[in-house]
Amino acid sequence: MSDFVSNSLVPEYIEKLIPYKAGKPIDEVKRELGLERVYKLASNENPLGPSPRALEALRAAMADLHLYPDSSGYKLRNALAERYRVKQENVILGSGSEGIMSTIVRTFLHGDEEALTSEGTFVGFMVLARAQGIPLVTVPLSNYGYDLEAMAQAITPKTKVVYLANPNNPTGTIFTRPAFEAFLERVPPHVLILLDEAYFEFVGDLYDYPDSQLYRADNVITLRTFSKSYGLGGIRIGYGLAHEKLIHQLMKVKLPFEPSSLAQAAGLGALEDDDFLQRTLELNQRGLERFYQAFDAARIPYVKSYTNFVMLDLGSEEKVDRLTEGLLRDGIIVRPLKGFGLPHCLRVSVGLDHENEAFLEAFLKRF
Ligand SMILES: Cc1ncc(COP(=O)(O)O)c(C=O)c1O
Repeated sequence: MSDFVSNSLVPEYIEKLIPYKAGKPIDEVKRELGLERVYKLASNENPLGPSPRALEALRAAMADLHLYPDSSGYKLRNALAERYRVKQENVILGSGSEGIMSTIVRTFLHGDEEALTSEGTFVGFMVLARAQGIPLVTVPLSNYGYDLEAMAQAITPKTKVVYLANPNNPTGTIFTRPAFEAFLERVPPHVLILLDEAYFEFVGDLYDYPDSQLYRADNVITLRTFSKSYGLGGIRIGYGLAHEKLIHQLMKVKLPFEPSSLAQAAGLGALEDDDFLQRTLELNQRGLERFYQAFDAARIPYVKSYTNFVMLDLGSEEKVDRLTEGLLRDGIIVRPLKGFGLPHCLRVSVGLDHENEAFLEAFLKRF
């Protein structure tokens, strides 16, 4: 297709978009570099694999693949409502939490309304907003974390949605209760706060963490996911919790048969899999401590994490690129963070114990 034709078919804001670059798939790296053993520590996936209970539920659900999914997501919404002591009307399901983000953007953002977020945060929301031609205002990070004070100041009459990831990806940081409470007070009621808690389970019982379910503010939508702590990133199942009036509007806009029947079944199975969740959290904690200990000993600057990954500040893009390439040759995929606006930083996901050791050995050798 000539440039003339392709340019004229899409609006300028689509033409300007840069395609999302996900972590490299294991098979591609094996093929390209002729490697037999590759460990992927690049996409914050669950190294234990999927929840066994989710797999069981999936197998049972396959017999009904000829039927369309329950578009109301009754069973899983009900189970989630029970878990969080809310009504079914307070819950929405989506194809991953990103599926719900997409519905939120289409439902609430129009014309010259603006979205506000931080620099150095998850790019999913930014891509969705830009793909809709929505102007995006960003505020710099402060000490690798969200600067909620500066974000409150950046709200204008045009601001419609504020996106906050807590914990944040890729920095792994959280903002605290007092910071969030002060922020909530300054956000006008017509501004929607999209609170992305994709790594919520990894935070554990931490008083300082403002679990959004303790607040239940009318203009906050919480997003959580089965992708990380339940190992279901491939099937695409996430959920949102909010005031029933907000959920009601979103239910009108979401794709009618999103999420798929298999995704709904897997989520339902996973939700009962406390044993798997526990094993996931223990493995993760052990991995984080091992990383910290090794980085401390080698005096490598890292940011303390509340998630299943750690961000390292290597000081320069050149060093990040050299280490990423070197690690790839050793069969270890990590994530350089240029695409997140942090070109001097690298992110490594916590893997199985032997994967973490392999990463540390290769990393420290090349550092
Ligand atoms: C902060 C954050 N939000 C959302 C997602 C996407 O989650 P899901 O798989 O539920 O779409 C990710 C995935 O990396 C993430 O880091």
